[in-house]
Amino acid sequence: MAEILNPPPKHVAIIMDGNGRWAAAHKLPRSAGHREGAKAVRRVIETAPQLGIKFITLYAFSTENWSRPQDEINTLMQLLEKTIDEYQHEAKQQNLRLWVSGAREPLAPELLDKMDKLVQSTATHTGLTVNLALNYGAQQEITHAVNALLAAGKKQITPQDITAHLYQPQLPAPELLIRTSGEQRLSNFLLWQAAYSELYFTPVLWPDFDGKELQKAVQIYQHRQRRFGGV
Ligand code: IPE
Ligand code: IPE
Ligand code: MG
Repeated sequence: MAEILNPPPKHVAIIMDGNGRWAAAHKLPRSAGHREGAKAVRRVIETAPQLGIKFITLYAFSTENWSRPQDEINTLMQLLEKTIDEYQHEAKQQNLRLWVSGAREPLAPELLDKMDKLVQSTATHTGLTVNLALNYGAQQEITHAVNALLAAGKKQITPQDITAHLYQPQLPAPELLIRTSGEQRLSNFLLWQAAYSELYFTPVLWPDFDGKELQKAVQIYQHRQRRFGGV
């Protein structure tokens, strides 16, 4: 491959898509695809620090995903709760810091409680920051930022003002945005932050994604020429 043009991305954002199709391909219920997808999350969290990644945003549940059948929503929420439970111990071993992006309503109080505890107990960890995009919608996030500015009495706002009022103002914009499963759209993910992200689409279904696939995406990113409107 040609010369490396970029250092590894500090922040990688992932649209983890294709659990349902993975399950269908294996003649399994969609819930099995989601369970397998949770394993891919673990693999990626383990590998990311070795690749120089400092922040990883994982799109786990969109504001539009509430339109799915209630039993699938229940499965996803249970799986999230279970995974968060498991990370109460593992986050310490792996020095992970948990951040969350999304609206709290209408998430269950028990889930919010566990999430809050993990955010608190990992706040001083210095390893990978895992930003969980849960009940996340980018249009809602931008609207939330504008409303916060209006409430503060702002009459005119700048792009910097909006950035400062996103769910996680300290999170740098992702240099690399990955979507698995062959779909090539953003589905209401990071519309503001992805203004200059490099997009990487792979046909690999999320449950088949692993450290090698992440490394491949990072390598391709490192060979991209980023111009930011310049020459
Ligand atoms: C991604 O997989 C998981 C979530 C959106 C929560 P999907 O469930 O969207 O899988 P496909 O797109 O139906 O294959
Ligand atoms: C995007 O995937 C949301 C997550 C991965 C959490 P979807 O499967 O919901 O997206 P669409 O409906 O195909 O755009
Ligand atoms: Mg999907």
